[in-house]
Amino acid sequence: MKMTPSLIILGSIVVFAPVLLIAVILPWVTISDAPSEIHRPRTGIEQEGRRIYVNNGCTYCHTQFVRNIDWDLGAERVAQSGDYIHDRPHLVGTARTGPDLSQQGGEHPDDWHLAHFINPRHTRPESLMPTWEFLGMERIGALTAYVQSLGFKSADYRVQRQNEWKRKAVEAFEAGPEENVRWMHSMVPEPCTRLPNPYPTTEADLKRGHRIYQGFCIGCHGPIGDGMGPAQPHLYPPPLNFTILKDRGITGGILYYQIMNGITGTAMPYFKRELESEKIWAVGNYVAVNFIGQSDAGGEPRGIAASYEPPRQE
Ligand code: HEC
Ligand code: HEC
Repeated sequence: MKMTPSLIILGSIVVFAPVLLIAVILPWVTISDAPSEIHRPRTGIEQEGRRIYVNNGCTYCHTQFVRNIDWDLGAERVAQSGDYIHDRPHLVGTARTGPDLSQQGGEHPDDWHLAHFINPRHTRPESLMPTWEFLGMERIGALTAYVQSLGFKSADYRVQRQNEWKRKAVEAFEAGPEENVRWMHSMVPEPCTRLPNPYPTTEADLKRGHRIYQGFCIGCHGPIGDGMGPAQPHLYPPPLNFTILKDRGITGGILYYQIMNGITGTAMPYFKRELESEKIWAVGNYVAVNFIGQSDAGGEPRGIAASYEPPRQE
């Protein structure tokens, strides 16, 4: 066959037409510009916060969309086009240096965000997110309002739940340590309250607990567990002073449950997505031994790990 100009043109149309159909025309006819079921317009202050988000390049590290293939641990609702109809420019982003923020609203209470924006190392000691203290309180407030609106109506629901629980947490905190501990433990299912820590207290275990404590907890609960970490001035109720748990019925199971699930309404986050079960037991025992001074850690592991070696008789 001879390569004539008309054959080349025809050939390129045959090649490009399906591409155009799949990459341009199909999305164009299938994407609707109707709002999704969670969508709502942003308020003035949320809009202002969005502007600060754009100006400060948050989008270089944070995405705002969850794809089908992201749907696993940590991924929330899969994004829909109707979530973005009012976003000019859209902020879906491409880099996930930090976590996806499309459903961030209500994940934490406002005071957590304040401490985190002032210095992310306050709440997450190894974070590489920059500090935003230079923005000043007013702009941090607007940024917080924006971040708390991510997820629209589902965020509003979570924020409302945070606020409800915050009222209860503040009330319990203000009623003194006895009542505060009773309130915190009233959320723990009864069988957990009776569960001792199944791992033995070993030097290696305490070292591991120490390492985890430094990486996740020290900014709030402080190096000596008295709740006076650098985040403390920004949080209310303030981080727990662990010494108040002594002689108040604390068990390894309670520590495990609280660290795993966090305490809604307070800055205490859940760690079930970041720490494996064994690490939660380890950091719980580290707190029990060093700060509470009371540990029920088992003498024998229940279930022998492959790496477990019985103590040698010398
Ligand atoms: C250099 C990258 C980087 C930039 C820029 C950045 N972040 Fe982050 N961000 C992170 C990382 C990493 C984390 C996870 C560790 C942490 O909690 O600090 C994070 C965490 C967060 C979280 C908490 C998510 C959660 O639930 O734990 C929020 C909210 C957040 N960033 C908002 C912002 C906002 C708003 C801006 C812009 C003012 C911003 N970030 C700029 C990297 C960044
Ligand atoms: C952002 C701050 C913050 C971080 C980070 C944090 N906590 Fe907390 N923690 C709190 C606050 C606030 C409370 C609740 C205080 C109250 O309601 O009086 C709390 C409560 C607790 C409790 C509840 C005790 C009980 O008996 O019910 C435990 C256990 C605990 N934290 C352990 C940890 C551990 C372990 C880590 C690290 C893996 C950690 N926390 C990280 C702020 C924090």
